Amino acid sequence: MDASRRRFLRTVAGGVAAPLMVPGAGAAAPAHSLELYPATIDIGGDRPVSAWTFNGRIPGPELRVTRGGELSVAVHNGLQEPTAVHWHGIRIANAMDGVPGMTQEPIAPGARFDYRFTAPDAGTFWYHSHMRSSEQVDRGLYGLLVVEEEQPYPVDRELPLIVDDWRLDETGDISADFGNMHDASHGGRLGNWITVNGVSTPDIPVSRGERLRLRLVNTANARVMTLAFSGHPLHVIALDGQPVAPFQAGEEVTLAPAQRADVVVDMTAEPGARVPIQLVHQRGVLTVAHLAYRDTPGSAPRQQPPPALPPNPLDTRLQLDRALRRELVMAGGAMGSMASAVHRGREMPIRELVGQGMAWSLNGVAGLPEQPLFRAPRGSTVVLDLVNDNRWPHAMHIHGHHFRVIEGNGQSLPDSPWRDTTLLFGFDRVTVAFKADNPGKWLLHCHMIEHMAAGMLTWFEVA
Ligand code: C2O
Ligand code: CU
Repeated sequence: MDASRRRFLRTVAGGVAAPLMVPGAGAAAPAHSLELYPATIDIGGDRPVSAWTFNGRIPGPELRVTRGGELSVAVHNGLQEPTAVHWHGIRIANAMDGVPGMTQEPIAPGARFDYRFTAPDAGTFWYHSHMRSSEQVDRGLYGLLVVEEEQPYPVDRELPLIVDDWRLDETGDISADFGNMHDASHGGRLGNWITVNGVSTPDIPVSRGERLRLRLVNTANARVMTLAFSGHPLHVIALDGQPVAPFQAGEEVTLAPAQRADVVVDMTAEPGARVPIQLVHQRGVLTVAHLAYRDTPGSAPRQQPPPALPPNPLDTRLQLDRALRRELVMAGGAMGSMASAVHRGREMPIRELVGQGMAWSLNGVAGLPEQPLFRAPRGSTVVLDLVNDNRWPHAMHIHGHHFRVIEGNGQSLPDSPWRDTTLLFGFDRVTVAFKADNPGKWLLHCHMIEHMAAGMLTWFEVA
């Protein structure tokens, strides 16, 4: 047993990780408790891996709250390094956003931080470490956060599918080459091992006739995932936690890192069938799970298309003619043309930047700038022209807000969905718009975590 594990056991014995429901303590006691600590976890490879976990599990415990309700979580840091937890996609009170150095002090090893926030939107969200994320998220510090609608949505059952990409080394453990400059300047940390809900190629028991609501989440550091459900058409009902007018997506859906999709799918195959769920990639397909039909005959599959989800209280009234408009030029990466950028307040040539672990810039600045990209009065509409001036894909994420892509490569997109993360391909030009209605300091970054770590992040302030 290693030292950190022993330390955790002592912590449990000391009662810190016990349920924190203290009768009569009222609002003081968080309803949930998450402890981060190292653990050896079997993800189906040659050997169990040296993971970092929430409560000893990967994914961490599934957290649920009803729309408009309060979620309270006591986070205990049992790692040997500081951390912070971000509640991805929640239009959250700024102080609870979990960005160390911006919205809170890092949670020191052995320390506790209580998160307490209301969840305004029903949908599929997730939580993850937001400190040294390249390693902390990669080793397993993520979990599902479901905000339920007040009325149950008409399906037989829900099924979360949390898909992750791991890089295992020759020994079968998690490869320790975090943050290397090759990954940072190329497509990020791409792995060689896929898990669904923390295990490799699980059998997912289903019955003919069932209608499922899948909550699909891509928790990979860098891999864009296209998931294909052979013979099973998918009805998309929400993206990144915001309802969409239901549409048929064929049999596959693509998720950039951090993106989610809620899809309704009917189990229409024969009893006993084994239907692969496949990851589609450049060189073919990889089976990542099976829908394992029970042998017993089920009911007849439903015919009617799934209904729309009720709307969330998101302010969708953009005032484009009076918007605050900014351009964001994304430069750098391997085979790129970035010659220099400002880092820590000083212009540096590319060689020096690389020496500092920087490979990317936003508007000529590598790493978090001192000044925000903009300050917006609360309630104003913000329009950002994202110019991807390099050949690499990027998953741009905005904290605390949902936005729409209103224009892509010169084409106007009047009906695009509200999202918190959007995927740009090489040399794409994409215009996004949102209502800056959540006061505070918010990050805007690439969710390919190695790109963020190597400079692709900035921030803005809503006053
Ligand atoms: Cu998933 Cu900065 O976030
Ligand atoms: Cu990127």
